[in-house]
Amino acid sequence: MPLPTFSADADAAWAQLRAHGRTLAGVRLHELFAADPLRFERLHLDACGLLLDYSKARIDNRALELLLDLAAAARLETWIEALFSGAEVNSTERRAALHPALRRFDSEAFPGPANDVMPAVRAVRERLTAFAETVRAGRWTGCTGRPIEQVVNIGIGGSDLGPRMVCTALEAWGGWAGRVHFVANVDATELSLVLAGLDPAVTLFVVTSKTFTTQETLCNARSAKDWLIAGCGDRPAVVARHMVAVTGSPGRAIEFGADPGNIFEMWDWVGGRYSLWSAVGLPILLALGSEYYAELLAGAHAIDEHFRHAPPAANMPVLLALVGLWHGSVLGAESHAILPYDFALRVLPAYLQQLEMESNGKRVRRDGRSVDYPTCPVVWGGPGNNGQHAFFQLLHQGGRLVSSDFLVAAHGQRPLPGHDDAVVANALAQSEALMRGRTLAEARAELIARGLDEAQAEALAPHRVLPGNQPSNTLLFERLTPAVLGALLALYEHKVFVQSVCWGINPFDQWGVELGKELAGVLLAEIEGAVPAGNHDASTTALVQRVRSWRASTEA
Ligand code: F6P
Repeated sequence: MPLPTFSADADAAWAQLRAHGRTLAGVRLHELFAADPLRFERLHLDACGLLLDYSKARIDNRALELLLDLAAAARLETWIEALFSGAEVNSTERRAALHPALRRFDSEAFPGPANDVMPAVRAVRERLTAFAETVRAGRWTGCTGRPIEQVVNIGIGGSDLGPRMVCTALEAWGGWAGRVHFVANVDATELSLVLAGLDPAVTLFVVTSKTFTTQETLCNARSAKDWLIAGCGDRPAVVARHMVAVTGSPGRAIEFGADPGNIFEMWDWVGGRYSLWSAVGLPILLALGSEYYAELLAGAHAIDEHFRHAPPAANMPVLLALVGLWHGSVLGAESHAILPYDFALRVLPAYLQQLEMESNGKRVRRDGRSVDYPTCPVVWGGPGNNGQHAFFQLLHQGGRLVSSDFLVAAHGQRPLPGHDDAVVANALAQSEALMRGRTLAEARAELIARGLDEAQAEALAPHRVLPGNQPSNTLLFERLTPAVLGALLALYEHKVFVQSVCWGINPFDQWGVELGKELAGVLLAEIEGAVPAGNHDASTTALVQRVRSWRASTEA
């Protein structure tokens, strides 16, 4: 199917949005609430176990209309169909992006009979499930005959963050808490810290790399292999019993030494940051077991169906995306905070950082022209409750426009009296405070009420003013079950897609990361001393020389 082009209508819709943004500059969120008792009723939506409240976004009715006009002008509905019908939506790499296939359990062809990927998906899923259940049942033995008890995933970026985040979020599910570990960083510290607590005879490594060329992953995998051989002896079965690979390049995994029978395949139509639903999710299957894993996938599939079929004005990923565009590209918020009020979601900000910033951290459109407004904001964040006692100060009084997503669980993962209520109260207090703020008159009156005299109140009051008007979304859910987590993650995936369509950019490539990789290859040889320091800027050359001279004196 031919992909729609970015039309003059979309440019015109952007111009209208910007013009309306200027008229809203002075509007206060709490005034919008005061003027419209039904604001929450109108600006919230329930889908797939999630409640999205976007009434604290800095939008009015006209802004919402114009945002929906933009989506229509950018031909969003055609793009959604293109995604789900297997068109080459990754235009620069001429690939489809078929991650929705990975969470389907029906017997239908997908994306269609002519390009059905489901037989391959089902076959790999069956192998993965059988393998994971064998390990979990204690029937996969290491080279000394003892059953595997611990798993270490070695991978980075999309080959790490998805499984790491899901395993952290759902560690209370599946009965394998504390047994699945992750190593991404090439600094030996991470690998060493993980291995320090483990026994090679009962440890299984999952080496995950779509390309199987990633320097960090191969370096860690080689050291893991050495550790196994040092611990178990150089027996023929060491690698076969203790290392499996997940990759789209089986040939390279075999070259590394992986047993061909222990390689789980992924495909070029799954992007790394969209891959936790593929074989990359093996650590999740090992941690959760197949039933909860299926629930995770089913939750994501429910959002896929909602996204594909709900009209834009009642479509959660579409609305989350449009509100984000409004704050970032129109009102100029340069950063967007992810604030989980469920400690289980503490890795989510890092995961969404890759999902959003690697997908949409671009300024060149599909047609080769540059966008003339900001695209993806800086995505950052951390557990909201901890953040309140640290970085929230800037959100309240720093004077920058920062939009936020509050992710709030009515029940946490572990019941202790009083905790869940405190979590929810803090979340709602913060989003209310960010929105309302405190005026100078209110600050002064409060100080007087506390017994300060006029002069003291006058001096202190400006420091106690909170400008407010900081926009936020709240995503409320009853409890973070596997299905709710699946829905949440698919919601953000599709949010990213919708935004990319409205900006006219391709969210599925990541050319920006390549230059650093190429230079790292050159510099590695120079730092190792294999070649002389090359033709760099004065800073880089001097730093290489300093490292080399420190290394030489340490060796001497
Ligand atoms: O360098 C970026 C990147 O290519 C990501 O897109 C990807 O998720 C990560 O590196 C890991 O790549 P691989 O799975 O091929 O090792």
